[in-house]
Amino acid sequence: MDFSGEVAEWQRNVSEGKAGNSRRHAVMEALEVRVGKSYLDVGCGGGHLVRELGNAAGTEGRVVGIDSSPQMLENARAVCQGLTCVKIIEGNAAQIPSDDAEFDGLAVIQVYEYVEDVSAALEEARRVLKPGCPIAIVSILWEHCRFYGAERKLNEQINEAWRAHCFHQMLPLELPPLLEKNGFGSLTRTNISFLDTALHAGSTAYYLSKLIAKFAASQGVSEEDANLWLSQLSDADKEDRFGFVNFPVLCVATAI
Ligand SMILES: C[S@@+](CC[C@H](N)C(=O)[O-])C[C@H]1O[C@@H](n2cnc3c(N)ncnc32)[C@H](O)[C@@H]1O
Repeated sequence: MDFSGEVAEWQRNVSEGKAGNSRRHAVMEALEVRVGKSYLDVGCGGGHLVRELGNAAGTEGRVVGIDSSPQMLENARAVCQGLTCVKIIEGNAAQIPSDDAEFDGLAVIQVYEYVEDVSAALEEARRVLKPGCPIAIVSILWEHCRFYGAERKLNEQINEAWRAHCFHQMLPLELPPLLEKNGFGSLTRTNISFLDTALHAGSTAYYLSKLIAKFAASQGVSEEDANLWLSQLSDADKEDRFGFVNFPVLCVATAI
């Protein structure tokens, strides 16, 4: 999945909305963020969590955000402007540009599903975390993420095309053995699923539907059909029969 252009913009909108806020809140709590500590956000996107971590860790703390997309990095630097404890740098989840045991907590929100070798990425995460410190991973049960309101056959066609947008459809269920293998223990998993029943600008459903339609059109669905799907969802919204269910899961584990 290419996180640039309109996709970067829509991703930023999703992060700024209700769903983004609730994920960040869950991650901040899980990491038990403290003044003066050091945190890493892997795949920091538009930088909203890095900003919150920076505000919480304070000037004596240290917060690093890494991302592989130049446009996301640019957005994150703008969002974190003025926070002296924050550094936003180009980096890959599978090769983190940091020393061993550098961080007191590590966040990964909706990133590992785009990483082919999650085990290698977890090995890197373990390397840069201090023993006894937490990793908080939000990933999505994509097979259960569904829009309702469009004609069933077209909806299925769009869903099928969307499967190719990431490597891992059901990552929360794959994570436990991978975490254990790479030196993490005390795993907990929390369901942070939600339902959107409106398609207004500001809802996760609004931006994600645009993103999915664009992606489907790059995967062999005709542009006409992708636009028809969007207009069917919009009609369903006007008739109060629209729905979007999403199943993010927060996995928290401790570096052994
Ligand atoms: C869905 S966005 C989530 C962004 C952010 N964590 C948030 O919650 O708003 C996924 C992000 O992961 C980044 N990404 C994907 N694969 C990556 C990798 N292998 N290493 C680092 N970043 C990656 C993308 O560039 C994008 O910014």
